[in-house]
Amino acid sequence: MYTEPNTYDIVGVGFGPSNLALAIALDEILLERGRELSHCFIERQAQFIWHGDMLLPGTDMQISFLKDLVSLRDPTSPYSFVNYLRQHNRLEAFINQKTFFPSRIEFNDYLRWTAGHFDAHCRYGESVTRVAPEYKGRDVVALTVHSADAAGRERQRRTRSLVFAPGGRPFVPPCLAERNDARIIHSSRYLGEIERNPLDVGGEHAFAVVGGGQSAAEIFLDLVARYPSAKVDLILRGSTLKPSEDGPSINHIFDPDYTDFFFGQPQKVRLSLLAEFRHTNYAVVDGDLIERISAMLYAQRVEGTARVRVLSSCAIEQVRCDEHGVTLDLAQAGAAQPLQQRYQRVISATGYLRDTSRSLLAELEHELDGFSIGRHYQLATPAHVQAPIFVQGSSETTHGLADTLLSVLAIRSHEIALSLVNKLAPKPQRPVHASDIVAEEVE
Ligand SMILES: Cc1cc2nc3c(=O)[nH]c(=O)nc-3n(C[C@H](O)[C@H](O)[C@H](O)COP(=O)(O)OP(=O)(O)OC[C@H]3O[C@@H](n4cnc5c(N)ncnc54)[C@H](O)[C@@H]3O)c2cc1C
Ligand SMILES: NC(=O)c1ccc[n+]([C@@H]2O[C@H](COP(=O)([O-])OP(=O)(O)OC[C@H]3O[C@@H](n4cnc5c(N)ncnc54)[C@H](OP(=O)(O)O)[C@@H]3O)[C@@H](O)[C@H]2O)c1
Repeated sequence: MYTEPNTYDIVGVGFGPSNLALAIALDEILLERGRELSHCFIERQAQFIWHGDMLLPGTDMQISFLKDLVSLRDPTSPYSFVNYLRQHNRLEAFINQKTFFPSRIEFNDYLRWTAGHFDAHCRYGESVTRVAPEYKGRDVVALTVHSADAAGRERQRRTRSLVFAPGGRPFVPPCLAERNDARIIHSSRYLGEIERNPLDVGGEHAFAVVGGGQSAAEIFLDLVARYPSAKVDLILRGSTLKPSEDGPSINHIFDPDYTDFFFGQPQKVRLSLLAEFRHTNYAVVDGDLIERISAMLYAQRVEGTARVRVLSSCAIEQVRCDEHGVTLDLAQAGAAQPLQQRYQRVISATGYLRDTSRSLLAELEHELDGFSIGRHYQLATPAHVQAPIFVQGSSETTHGLADTLLSVLAIRSHEIALSLVNKLAPKPQRPVHASDIVAEEVE
């Protein structure tokens, strides 16, 4: 049981990898400086889990384990992936795998193990619903963070500062979302939904997976393996699955140093860099998955079967739901008639939006300078807003493509933690001696 202070120094919204990295960095700096700041992180999930409904067997990390929560800043930290391996007696065995890319299941276990060290600062099972400014005259002197648990019980916490890290919000195209049908599932809920309402494994079902990104490809392969008699269609707008651009010459755009370069560019240049490098991250699939899908399609041609299909250059024109399933009308480039297909489940692997921080701050909107974010991730506010607000993972257009990824966590969290400690628990002023004044006058 914990007792909560009347006012926190820092409240964090969300406890995924970004705010977990911040918890470590804060701990480190406060210990080093002999200071204390009361802080807590409010997390919607009941326990720490990293994209739990996408922890599919056989899926790997997309970045090196050396880009863990701490190593780029301090490879000697006890919270490194290497120390996690050592503590779990798997260091040599991991080395023998000869890989930089652990499974996502193992990396989740590393993150969960690290998060366990910060339980005292975590308020799991509560969703932040809004943030309200507290005015004294014209000044915003504090913020009140409102949250609710799964049973609808509401709580409020007063804080002197705020750090948002709520991650992405699932995006479902309107034509699918409007149906509001439980058989249409966003990829972020895939495993939970497919396991909660399972179809019989040997049944002749039909599944559609919409999207051409990594989530779509992983789910497509999972369904093919999970339901060996089912028909599975991968439906993409593009003309083909695109491999992610990867390799030593391009990967420097994910280096923390690149953030300075990117931030220093005019907005027009930033936007053209984002467009140029979009296919390092979005709407792309790992090359080895594309090879597995191609091999499967070719094997079917040899057998003369068509259990699985990749339907490219396809737009969803209409969606109908009835007791038999979800019917999609698919307009395929070059085809005279739309293709009509009925599915038992439609998985929308159509990506994420990053607007949660902004919508939770709606009551403060008039105080924000158009949601402009400074180099060290602080929202621009006028001087009378005395509570600093930081955001993680919402500044791709100013900080670059690495902003939503793990690549910058070790450095970004340290930058934010330093700003917070300097603002909220500054070093005590050294008493001014007469000799200082003389020295200044001589200069
Ligand atoms: C399936 C998948 C795999 C990925 N794999 C990689 C990879 O290998 N490498 C890589 O660099 N990136 C990867 N990414 C990108 C991903 O964004 C980062 O790995 C990482 O999760 C970012 O951490 P975060 O803490 O910013 O966001 P998240 O991990 O999304 O965490 C945000 C947390 O905030 C909580 N939350 C949200 N809203 C609220 C609220 N209102 N109140 C309270 N809590 C809230 C959520 O429950 C969540 O726990 C992957 C993304 C996905 C979807
Ligand atoms: N193993 C892993 O490490 C792993 C696994 C999954 C995801 N991830 C990461 O998670 C992030 C998100 O990946 P993601 O695959 O979920 O999303 P994504 O890369 O944003 O891809 C979304 C896909 O949905 C399509 N789409 C969007 N709107 C659509 C619409 N209205 N109609 C039809 N199609 C639509 C897009 O089509 P267009 O191509 O036409 O734009 C795109 O192909 C990425 O950073 C990715 O690397 C990592």
